[in-house]
Amino acid sequence: MDLIAEYKKWAERLLRYNQQHLLAFWDELNDQDRTTLIQQLEDIDFELLHSLHDLIGKKCSVNTDHAAITPADVHRLPQTKDEFDLQREACLAGEKALRAGTVGVILVAGGQSSRLKYESPKGTFPVGPVTRRSLFQYHTEKIVALEKKYGVEIPWYIMTNMFSIKETEAFFRQNNYFGKNPASIRFFAQRMLPSVDAEGKALMETQFAPALAPDGHGGLLNALRENKLIEDMVHRGLEQLYYFQVDNPLAQICDPVFIGRHILARADISAKTVKKSHPDEKLGNIVRTGNGYLVIEYTELSSEEKNRKKENGDLYFDQGSIGIHVFERGFLEKIVEQADKMPFHVSHKRVKCIDAEGNLCDPKTPNAYKFEQFIFDVFTQTKNICVIEAERSREFSPIKNKEGDDSPDTARRDLCNYFGAMLQQAGYDVPKDKNGTVMWKLEISPLFAMDTDQLRKKLPNDFTPSDGLVLET
Ligand code: UD1
Repeated sequence: MDLIAEYKKWAERLLRYNQQHLLAFWDELNDQDRTTLIQQLEDIDFELLHSLHDLIGKKCSVNTDHAAITPADVHRLPQTKDEFDLQREACLAGEKALRAGTVGVILVAGGQSSRLKYESPKGTFPVGPVTRRSLFQYHTEKIVALEKKYGVEIPWYIMTNMFSIKETEAFFRQNNYFGKNPASIRFFAQRMLPSVDAEGKALMETQFAPALAPDGHGGLLNALRENKLIEDMVHRGLEQLYYFQVDNPLAQICDPVFIGRHILARADISAKTVKKSHPDEKLGNIVRTGNGYLVIEYTELSSEEKNRKKENGDLYFDQGSIGIHVFERGFLEKIVEQADKMPFHVSHKRVKCIDAEGNLCDPKTPNAYKFEQFIFDVFTQTKNICVIEAERSREFSPIKNKEGDDSPDTARRDLCNYFGAMLQQAGYDVPKDKNGTVMWKLEISPLFAMDTDQLRKKLPNDFTPSDGLVLET
């Protein structure tokens, strides 16, 4: 690399965007660090960053007429005979698609785990209540179990960010892809954008690296396009893409009922919700607007809207998104073409950075603005949306925080409850405390059993469960 020419080129270019401070430490850097800095600058879309300047300081960046929003129409959990019949019909339709090999999986795993304060990619987090098996292992085993059950290979698209892709790939490689054929997994990285200060100036993490953050899970669209993955999906004959978030060990990956409901409804997008447990639960709100749907993030709903009640005392906006969707491939193809039109949301966060003298600062209050796209903004692109209520105890227990709600402790507790329920339904006693929480640590690999029927068939007649039980293949 001709560093003198590069410096000249970048000095001019950065001046145009008022980002010339990114070269402030050039004279103090060695050639290796200068090269690193140039490579990082090459990856930044300064034109885009410049266009986002007006969002700084705004709370809500997407224009939504909140006066026009009403609660979403949601297919509730089945209670009547008709609803159970429809569930069975959907299950058959979903299983048919799975068997035909038209279903693929998209995992978004590009977040920074800042609330969890976990340095490695979140998918490597040891969630197993007994064995500490990682989120990635648990997710992969579910997919491999489905592949065995339906006699197909299920293509899997895993989105990481630019910093975590190598570690993620190495983790899978070192673990022999947890039994999945590596040719059926595509790892790809989403775009990164610098976090900026109140003037829109990119913050620097070190003297030769801007403080970069992934561009939100809505960056999926751009990343699918850049990596030509829609073409890959077409080539593999995929029609439905099951989408989920890495932090939820209870995701019922490729749930045939969900896929079947999506197919029967001829939907472009389907979404799963749970009833919010309290007004301030940090879930996106799925709402209706005219004859379409919208997800309004918890940060963008006013306190009055969050606390509004129906006549029966339930929350008015009670359906929280659990970040699980099915996308019709044809629809995905269309919106990927319009990835550049996706809006950005801005958030005010604490970001470690260096000051003008090059000293590292760890701010106690938010000092930075981050720009992110949200995948659910594509909800406005179609009227064909199918929203289905999920049972929280079976499908949702995310790991977001280090402690408290939505933490490793609550996820492990909920996994033990889930495995305990499987054992109970199979006819075994499992002790519970007065809150109904299973008192044992339990772990059942999806490769051993995905459901109660499989469990019953596999367990020997003289089986007795006990604390610390692990059932593997
Ligand atoms: C998210 C949803 C929220 C939903 C909740 C359910 C947003 C903005 N909100 O909240 O509506 O109710 O999950 O758990 O997402 N990710 C990327 N790239 C990024 C950022 C995130 O792949 O640039 C991935 C993360 O790895 C994670 C998922 O997206 O798997 C969710 O991200 P997170 O930041 O944890 O979102 P939440 O605010 O918890």
